[in-house]
Amino acid sequence: MNDYVKNEIKNNRKAIKEDWRELKETITDRKLNLEKPVMFKQPVEGSLIIDLDRVFPNIRQKTLEECIKNRRSLRSYKEQNLTLEEVTYLLWETSRVDSFKPGITFRTIPTAGATNSMETYLFLNKVEGIAKGLYLYVQDKHQLSLIDDTPGLEEIVNEALYGQLRGAAVVFFFTATPYRTEYKYAHLSHKMIAIEAGHAGQNVSLAAEVIDCGAVMLAAYVQEYCDNLFNIGNEEFVTYVATIGKR
Ligand SMILES: Cc1cc2nc3c(=O)[nH]c(=O)nc-3n(C[C@H](O)[C@H](O)[C@H](O)COP(=O)(O)O)c2cc1C
Repeated sequence: MNDYVKNEIKNNRKAIKEDWRELKETITDRKLNLEKPVMFKQPVEGSLIIDLDRVFPNIRQKTLEECIKNRRSLRSYKEQNLTLEEVTYLLWETSRVDSFKPGITFRTIPTAGATNSMETYLFLNKVEGIAKGLYLYVQDKHQLSLIDDTPGLEEIVNEALYGQLRGAAVVFFFTATPYRTEYKYAHLSHKMIAIEAGHAGQNVSLAAEVIDCGAVMLAAYVQEYCDNLFNIGNEEFVTYVATIGKR
């Protein structure tokens, strides 16, 4: 290990072993009463919007025990489309917002101090009746908003995933907007932001089991290319990815 690597390791480890008592002494933007961060990303004006259902008549539930027992990373998928109902179900169990008030969000997954650093984007590759494309899940409205449906996306997404698209029907991209958490927790935020992405990964993996799919979580992607897919990269960036398809 050279000195550069040793140094990087030391710095990075610090992010997951912060001392919570420091928060008391830290002057956060929240303590300064600065303007609260925007809570939910909104679609670009004029973009195509798909309203999503909140009931799932064709989804046959399984027990939690069964889902946990069967979950294994799946890296090869059947050539089968998902339905919009199935995709919506995955979003519902993973990225749904149950309620919110200024600065506080309650979701299906725990979110540090209810700060909700996360957004969800999808690549719908093989979904019945839906144009192949990149979409933003508009959390507070339970809608999809089309970002890009230009031809050739499959190859571009595969490159962004470092060649790990593997013919998946759907890809979930979880992003972080760190300032939403930093506003309240400053330098103590980053461990919590990463853990929150992990919660989302677990929910989407188990929800995939319910619809006879498998998922694999990805961290080995090309950061810049993934961020470019959604025109993000500075104040918001991709932190975790799941590829999903039928068993
Ligand atoms: C944070 C994280 C990142 C991962 N990144 C990748 C990845 O980029 N590519 C991949 O094929 N698997 C990835 N995996 C899946 C692991 O390789 C997998 O969980 C592990 O081999 C155990 O197998 P199992 O999930 O079937 O239990 C990742 C898993 C985690 C938790």
